[in-house]
Amino acid sequence: MDLGAGRRGVDMGPSALRNAHLATRLRELGHTVNDLGDIAVALPETLDKHMEAGLVFLDPIINACRDAAERVRAMPDGTFPLTLGGDHSVSMGTVTGNALRGAVSKEGAQGVRSGLIWVDAHTDYNTPQSSPSGNIHGMPVAHLTGLGDPHLTGLGGGWHMRPEDIVMIGIRSVDARERALMQEAGILAYTMKEVDVRGITRIVDETLERLGGLERLHVSFDADALDPSICPGVGTPVPGGLTYREGHLLMELLSESGRVTSMDIVEVNPILDTRNQTAEVMVGMAASLLGQRIM
Ligand code: ARG
Ligand code: MN
Ligand code: MN
Repeated sequence: MDLGAGRRGVDMGPSALRNAHLATRLRELGHTVNDLGDIAVALPETLDKHMEAGLVFLDPIINACRDAAERVRAMPDGTFPLTLGGDHSVSMGTVTGNALRGAVSKEGAQGVRSGLIWVDAHTDYNTPQSSPSGNIHGMPVAHLTGLGDPHLTGLGGGWHMRPEDIVMIGIRSVDARERALMQEAGILAYTMKEVDVRGITRIVDETLERLGGLERLHVSFDADALDPSICPGVGTPVPGGLTYREGHLLMELLSESGRVTSMDIVEVNPILDTRNQTAEVMVGMAASLLGQRIM
């Protein structure tokens, strides 16, 4: 879907990623790949675009996130859910679904405490009140921690992420009120300055240590984390991003840890891209996380 973004086109991201041979690349690594197809989402042209309580297209996004959460939750043990976006609001569904996998009791949702590695130029920690745009793709992490609109914070039936279980990497664009919310919540964000000064290797070490005891780690990778010179096909580009090698090194080191259990690839916008380059780069990132090595 692209309902959570300010510009059209990321709804075509999954097609672009499939066209860039994602499944073949993963099969070559020895994985069995089962493409579950798309989640049905209403077309924006058939909807009335209005802001309701500070949110644009709230109802269809809730439905899509519920659907995504349920599909991920229902995946059998031992599978690695890889979700293709679409705009980043889908991660409210996928992160929730992963936490609820094999963990729903009769009394209600009992999500498993899980770690979240958010690779993005943006912190996506706006609430409807703090957001300058009303675009829900700028709000998924806040809602995962229980801040914001009750329909979206309620996706996990009472389960929420703990702020200390979230690590962000690649950050270089944060809105003023969003920054205050991040600081209040105490979420650890490695900005591009930390990437420059400390390097990806140390950042990964610290991230894995911080998320130490957690059995499930989810990587949510927004294509705009990478520099727009390598990933031009994104709706909200910000200069000064991760290089091609920094992106791969991050994925390679996380892969070597053996601890990542699920992933999202989001915000690939084929309309704004050059010859499907952004999708091809992001397929490479998924391959590195799922075992590809140079030798
Ligand atoms: N902070 C801005 C907003 O809230 C941009 C968010 C961009 N998010 C994204 N997933 N690309 O509107
Ligand atoms: Mn982003
Ligand atoms: Mn994002």
